[in-house]
Amino acid sequence: MASEHVIEEKKQGQALVTQTKEGNTKKLFIESYGCQMNMNDSEIVAAVLATEGYNTTNSLEEADLVLVNTCSIREKAELTIRKRLQKYNRVRIDQNPKMKIGVLGCMAERLKVKFLEEEKMVDLVVGPDAYRDLPNLLREVSDGKDAINVLLSKEETYGDVSPVRLNSNGVSAFVTITRGCDNMCTFCVVPFTRGRERSRDPKSIIDEATDLWNKGYKEITLLGQNADSYLWYGGGLKKDFSKASEIAQATAVDFAKLLDMVATALPKMRIRFATSNPHDMHENVLHAIAKHTNICKYIHLPVQSGSTRILEKMNRQHTREEYITLIDKIRKIIPDCSISHDLITGFCTETEADHKETLSLMDYVKYDFGFMFAYSERPGTLAAKKMPDDVPLEVKKRRLTEIIDKQMKHSKIRLERFIGQTVEVLIDGISKKNKNEWKGRNSQNAVVVFPKTGNEKLGDFVQVKVTKATAATLIGKLV
Ligand code: SAH
Ligand code: F3S
Repeated sequence: MASEHVIEEKKQGQALVTQTKEGNTKKLFIESYGCQMNMNDSEIVAAVLATEGYNTTNSLEEADLVLVNTCSIREKAELTIRKRLQKYNRVRIDQNPKMKIGVLGCMAERLKVKFLEEEKMVDLVVGPDAYRDLPNLLREVSDGKDAINVLLSKEETYGDVSPVRLNSNGVSAFVTITRGCDNMCTFCVVPFTRGRERSRDPKSIIDEATDLWNKGYKEITLLGQNADSYLWYGGGLKKDFSKASEIAQATAVDFAKLLDMVATALPKMRIRFATSNPHDMHENVLHAIAKHTNICKYIHLPVQSGSTRILEKMNRQHTREEYITLIDKIRKIIPDCSISHDLITGFCTETEADHKETLSLMDYVKYDFGFMFAYSERPGTLAAKKMPDDVPLEVKKRRLTEIIDKQMKHSKIRLERFIGQTVEVLIDGISKKNKNEWKGRNSQNAVVVFPKTGNEKLGDFVQVKVTKATAATLIGKLV
């Protein structure tokens, strides 16, 4: 049976020592689970703690402080993190009694003080909007108290914090542009754990991107739970935009404008973004992507289900037909665009007929990639409160296998379209299978591997003629 996600389990893992500040003597071990924004948040946390005397380490045994940046999106993610906490505690008891342990991110926000009460193994609980308070909280911990801050903010975007790049290849970096989500999909815990939506000052985004370019980075991914909903009107919550002054409203910067500004300011930087909610993706964004050669021709456009009835129960605010119209527009305005999805099987009341609609939507779109999940009820969400989780687990799993199998076929067909073409690849590492080969991605986010010739290096843009496609990789040679 295919694995749960076709392409990759969204990255997780520990930070390696990548940047040290001279004079810092304390050691921070930080581990991140879940979405790309959590990876970037950990980089923000490392920056906040660098000013408090901490450098990162990859050794649990020697860490003064262990932080785990957590994910609540599915029950499985939370179970994995609980196991990690047990592991940290075993190391604390057996080898490193001075170690302090903290929980960051969505699970911290969801469980709050319960963490301190139930899990005696935790000293510190910090929600996603409270990382600036870490220095104070750590002082409380060193005074022997438990410390917690899970306040959500209307303003916080960490716009002025320059992240310490962890696990970096020196080529690609994340830049967060919005925080929180106002969409309230009925299955999703994110609006509760990350709060209301707010956007970051475009100037600070361009400054960070320029700084990355000056440091040799060649690709940035603009991140938001809902990137297309970006709206800067001088600060504050998106939902308060209608109360802003006429001038603020007239000079507001939306996502299409932001893309245009970043792509124009850094014409050689590759620009990616994630995630697009179909409900918030407007045609002007598609025109911005089409206009700039440095904006990658790739859109991650989660659909969750192909059935209008289920989409309505999920509160996705669009129908199957509206989604198809958007797909048709993408194909027309950006003909060579790759499209990927997130899909959930077995949401409340999903019938075999609904599932078939998902399969037929996949056949229509022929997605390049996909991230697929069985529905996992999350406490506190509207679905958990109001809708019975009534599709048996075996049925969720069987449907999941069916969509994964279909996606694998489509991924192969979509990759094969590149055979015979010459594509531009940004070299971002060495092939895992063969150290004499480079790996990188093309604009459409397909992974390409090719033999080294000795004349190119990490971070170069090169032209590769594609000769073959395996299940998830293109193989080629330099031209
Ligand atoms: N906007 C976010 C998406 C939220 S979480 C982003 O930037 O990625 C990512 C995906 O997890 C969702 O698109 C959805 O497919 C899946 N997901 C969210 N809640 C879930 C749940 N309760 N059960 C199963 N999958 C879920
Ligand atoms: Fe979750 Fe829907 Fe927002 S999936 S992150 S509530 S767009």
